[in-house]
Amino acid sequence: MTDSTAETLASLREQPLPFCELHVHVEGTLQPAAIFDLAERNQLTLPYRDVNDLARRYEFTDLQSFLDLYYDNLSVLIEERDYYDLALRYLTRAHAAGVRHVELFVDPQAHNMRGVPTGSVLGGVSKAITQATELYGLTAEIIVCVLRDQPVAAAHRMLESVLASGIPLTGIGLDSAEIGNPPALFKKVFEEAHSHGLRRVAHAGEEGPAEYIWQALDDLGAERIDHGIRCLEDDALVTRLAVDRIPLTVCPLSNVRLGVVNELGELPLRQMLERNLVVTINSDDPAYFGGYLDENLEACIAAFGLNYTDLKSLAMNSIQASFASDARRAELMSELST
Ligand code: HPA
Ligand code: ZN
Repeated sequence: MTDSTAETLASLREQPLPFCELHVHVEGTLQPAAIFDLAERNQLTLPYRDVNDLARRYEFTDLQSFLDLYYDNLSVLIEERDYYDLALRYLTRAHAAGVRHVELFVDPQAHNMRGVPTGSVLGGVSKAITQATELYGLTAEIIVCVLRDQPVAAAHRMLESVLASGIPLTGIGLDSAEIGNPPALFKKVFEEAHSHGLRRVAHAGEEGPAEYIWQALDDLGAERIDHGIRCLEDDALVTRLAVDRIPLTVCPLSNVRLGVVNELGELPLRQMLERNLVVTINSDDPAYFGGYLDENLEACIAAFGLNYTDLKSLAMNSIQASFASDARRAELMSELST
């Protein structure tokens, strides 16, 4: 570790910054040990010898190779309490990482297709959020994601079921296999979600082209882009994102583990910041990609030589990019100026 990395880490420990995490999939926080615990509780037999055998499979070549394991592992989540335990464990870890506000992605379709009702999924997650707020003072909200590699009709059914559940939601997102599944396909679902007051975000420009980011903005009305790093291939798009202050929720360790970049140093984080893009740092699927928010920040401090001032602007971006209430954002912003 260089002296400057150690110095930045020490400053961050002495004066923690109020980060918001805006791109984390609750299903992506399912650790190998938890998979075994849940399988035992639900009397399921896993196709792995033990935790180590499962953990050894956490090597990915691209997004699809990760999604295959991610969806397989969901088989252990059945009852509402499984979702509660999963979400509370993540929120506890996020609190330890210094996260003050979370916007948690949930994939209802991935559970509904296995026969688990939306009420169990969102009920468990929302009760965990209430508990975490009580325990840690952390705030959290739910964003349901459309699986873009499933039929459009399934997305409409998902939206109907989450609205019918009556569980408070903040937004709608778009995830799963990106290439070949352009955002524009889901224009009507997003319009419908917007008419019910949901905020709109979309994964775009992770593996897919810059054109998918344009579609997320123009067809879906996305207010934030998840990943979005391929925007740099299109100057007019960079200008649009910078002028309209559209945040990009970048996930550094995810990009390395899914082969979006060969190594962290190749991630164009500095270029994005230099071009006035509103970048935030996030963990995506921390159980799979080797790190929670604190570990993503530490890796970036080491790879890009970020100093405390850089971290302060990343924390500020995360607050400004969040969908937290005005009062909560003002509270977190005031901590930055002390
Ligand atoms: N990308 C797209 N879809 C996802 C991801 C991701 O990183 N994690 C869970 N669903
Ligand atoms: Zn993601």
